[in-house]
Amino acid sequence: MPQPLSPASAAPLLLFVDDDTELTHILSEFFHQQNYRTAAAHSLQEAIRALHREIPALLIVDMRLPDGNGNDLIAYLRRRPEGEAVPVIVVSALADTPSIHTARRSGADEYLTKPFSPAELLDMVRNSLRRRRAVEQLVTREAHLQTVTMLAKTIEARDAYTGGHVERVSAYARKLAEALKWSEEDRTLLEFGALLHDIGKITIPEHILNKPGPLTPAEQAVMREHPQRGAEMLRQVSHLRPAIPYILYHHERWDGRGYPEGLQGEAIPREGRLLAIVDAYDAMTTRRPYRARPLSKAKAAAEILRQSGTIFDPHMAKTFVHLVQKGKI
Ligand SMILES: [Fe+2]
Repeated sequence: MPQPLSPASAAPLLLFVDDDTELTHILSEFFHQQNYRTAAAHSLQEAIRALHREIPALLIVDMRLPDGNGNDLIAYLRRRPEGEAVPVIVVSALADTPSIHTARRSGADEYLTKPFSPAELLDMVRNSLRRRRAVEQLVTREAHLQTVTMLAKTIEARDAYTGGHVERVSAYARKLAEALKWSEEDRTLLEFGALLHDIGKITIPEHILNKPGPLTPAEQAVMREHPQRGAEMLRQVSHLRPAIPYILYHHERWDGRGYPEGLQGEAIPREGRLLAIVDAYDAMTTRRPYRARPLSKAKAAAEILRQSGTIFDPHMAKTFVHLVQKGKI
């Protein structure tokens, strides 16, 4: 019978499959002390039953089992949707290249030749689980990003003049943040912020949003509410809340004459200062109701420089213009 699970239920479960009961016992003890949960099976059938009870975080399997082959178990695991991402370490006395290739073809991630020390296996287990977590985080981020992109495009679809705006703004913003040496984490958040910066426009009436001529003061006042309305929307979504500064402050001006708060200079969160530049640049270089023809890249860059210190953060503006001049934007 498979050994019962050890009690620390939050810890990752390792399943050892080997007909050598002494080895599975030693490994179970060792990994239990390292705060893993462990289970052991000593034949293919026993291992399949163990997989039915719980899919482990990691499978460690011997190639030669009394009633079959380790490769069959890996294939069985991979056929189950929740087993697709489980890292597999194959342990075997066979160190020859064909055996390693066969194991890899079956879906093994690592190969360890017997005899090995538990510490050696521990390194491998840690690395495999770390890689898996990294992949999972990436997948989660990608899924969020897809949802947010869909939302941003839906909002944009109402706006007759800004086709592709959010995606271009997002791409420019990423490049500027990279040039400004923002951290990886900040740049991830930036991506969400850039995509959602005008989300508040969803609450602006169509006739104001798409008015071909200049807005009346009253209409302008409504239009200027979009940063706060967007921020209010994002407050309801816990994982998007950190992106609020992008939404709230992208219409602030360096000289303090922007909105909604009229903040000045570095009192404006840097998220807002960065987005103001890329947002304006895209508006200048694309067709808009208030301008007959878009500006060339060079003219738009010159305009950003001209307004540096009044509308835009001078350091960020200079960095951005450099990127345009170098052809990176
Ligand atoms: Fe805006």
